[in-house]
Amino acid sequence: MLAHSLFVFFVLSSLLLVGALENFARPDSSPYILYVALQSRGILTLSFDPSKSVQASLEILATNTDAGFMPGWLTLWEDKLFSISRTHFPTNASASGGAFSFQKYRSQRREEGSAPSWSLELLSNITSGGLGGVYCDVSRDGRTLSVANIDGSTVSVHPLLKTGIIGDASYLFKYNLSHPGPGTNGSQIQSNPHEAIFDPSGKYMFVNDRGADRIYVYHVDGPYNVTQISTVVLPPGTGPRHSTFSVFNSTRTYMYLASELDNTVRVFTLDGVANSDETDPIVHAPTLDITLRQTASTLGPGGRRTLPNDTFLASEVAMSHDGNFLYVSNRATTTFKSDTLTIYSVHPNIGDDSAHLEYLGQNLTYGKIPRHFSLSPDAHTRYAAVANEVTQNLVILERDTTTGFFTGMKGNISFGTLDVTQNLGPAAVIWDESKAVVSYA
Ligand SMILES: *[C@@H]1O[C@H](CO)[C@@H](O)[C@H](O)[C@H]1NC(C)=O
Ligand SMILES: *[C@@H]1O[C@H](CO)[C@@H](O)[C@H](O)[C@H]1NC(C)=O
Ligand SMILES: *[C@@H]1O[C@H](CO)[C@@H](O)[C@H](O)[C@H]1NC(C)=O
Ligand SMILES: *[C@@H]1O[C@H](CO)[C@@H](O)[C@H](O)[C@H]1NC(C)=O
Ligand SMILES: *[C@@H]1O[C@H](CO)[C@@H](O)[C@H](O)[C@H]1NC(C)=O
Ligand SMILES: *[C@@H]1O[C@H](CO)[C@@H](O)[C@H](O)[C@H]1NC(C)=O
Ligand SMILES: *[C@@H]1O[C@H](CO)[C@@H](O)[C@H](O)[C@H]1NC(C)=O
Ligand SMILES: *[C@@H]1O[C@H](CO)[C@@H](O)[C@H](O)[C@H]1NC(C)=O
Ligand SMILES: *[C@@H]1O[C@H](CO)[C@@H](O)[C@H](O)[C@H]1NC(C)=O
Repeated sequence: MLAHSLFVFFVLSSLLLVGALENFARPDSSPYILYVALQSRGILTLSFDPSKSVQASLEILATNTDAGFMPGWLTLWEDKLFSISRTHFPTNASASGGAFSFQKYRSQRREEGSAPSWSLELLSNITSGGLGGVYCDVSRDGRTLSVANIDGSTVSVHPLLKTGIIGDASYLFKYNLSHPGPGTNGSQIQSNPHEAIFDPSGKYMFVNDRGADRIYVYHVDGPYNVTQISTVVLPPGTGPRHSTFSVFNSTRTYMYLASELDNTVRVFTLDGVANSDETDPIVHAPTLDITLRQTASTLGPGGRRTLPNDTFLASEVAMSHDGNFLYVSNRATTTFKSDTLTIYSVHPNIGDDSAHLEYLGQNLTYGKIPRHFSLSPDAHTRYAAVANEVTQNLVILERDTTTGFFTGMKGNISFGTLDVTQNLGPAAVIWDESKAVVSYA
């Protein structure tokens, strides 16, 4: 599947397609573009055409094999794509992961009506600074790249050039565990940073440490000024994994933390953030008031935590663009039955946020071990793409924007057979936001 390499691209860099997410408009006829980190192969570019049948709606357009050994995470910033590889960087002799940057190209044939073709071109690669690269993020200003290494217990911070080139690490944070946590199956015998995510203001970085039951909070003033300002200590056996955010007003953001060992979502308020451009981040002291408001189970109504016994492992968390529904993926490890996405309605309440999330129910992911899912970028958030790691299939679910539930499967593509090792299948999926350099073939 190296069809893209057959094209000769004349890059017209002046034809940068810009456009913010809120302006995202798509003619009904044009398919969506998605990227999948397929551990066994590389980064796949796919199209999703909702007008086609479940079996035909997803099509692999290109496969890029420059993303290192076991690519496991993807993030977009404008017309660049960033990925992380698990180990073997720069050679098989190394245990470290690698961080990679790519230029997205969309090549449009000059003849009218012809379908565009998409491709990725490697811009740079660099060591992730530790064993087990699992996550990367780009700050909102595009100047800073964060990387989490789950097995090496490190997070590295890199300057990003406008060209997408990743610079040498400006910080390498190393975390230690004073004593093991209660999590079974080796889940809490060392520090396991699972994510190093920037908040919507881009001024704070949250490192979720599954092994240590902690969130390390950093103030970020560009790639060369990253300072830890606090640590959130969670109950033993929590296993914090991934977060998402929702801006409430110019000084308050909600943070939703999915924890894989106790299978909960915790709702926090972050007060003192600078969400509007008018708020001067320097005048604003780099302090943050972080308050836990609610703990909700991902497995049913109420806030009951599971034991950290690896029976269920919550994975990803995401919110619909209207802010009305929150979704969390669940991985059940003792059955081959399809896994689920949990659906909550969202009710901000200034006086009392203890019922902020209301558990509505679950839908199937039509596959096993949904390591990651993401919601489509259209204003109505019509679809979710789910990467089922063990059954090695990508599923597109259609969303009822009023009830929050998924009404049906709109796409299902297989990348391989059942793989219980979890070393081959899709580990991440993201939707393109159509900001690509256009070239003509
Ligand atoms: C990193 O990129 C260079 C080209 O810039 C390439 O030669 C090398 O193989 C890449 N290394 C890895 C481990 O992907
Ligand atoms: C590196 O390791 C991978 C995976 O084990 C293997 O497929 C590849 O052949 C190895 N490359 C070299 C140069 O040994
Ligand atoms: C962890 O240990 C290393 C090496 O002993 C040390 O340099 C580092 O500061 C420690 N980190 C934390 C967060 O305690
Ligand atoms: C956890 O360990 C138990 C006992 O060794 C094993 O039976 C089970 O399969 C493990 N679970 C996972 C998710 O690895
Ligand atoms: C680092 O960031 C802090 C907080 O924004 C700021 O007060 C300080 O001046 C910055 N230091 C440098 C060297 O830029
Ligand atoms: C944002 O909302 C919080 C909670 O109601 C409030 O305390 C704060 O003053 C608000 N900020 C602004 C700028 O209105
Ligand atoms: C794990 O803990 C839950 C309670 O949180 C319990 O229902 C389940 O049976 C336990 N599983 C195993 C394999 O011990
Ligand atoms: C999702 O769950 C709802 C409520 O149980 C159900 O009506 C609907 O059919 C489910 N959707 C899918 C795609 O299974
Ligand atoms: C989805 O595709 C997989 C792989 O081809 C297949 O095994 C599975 O039955 C399909 N599921 C549905 C619900 O069509």
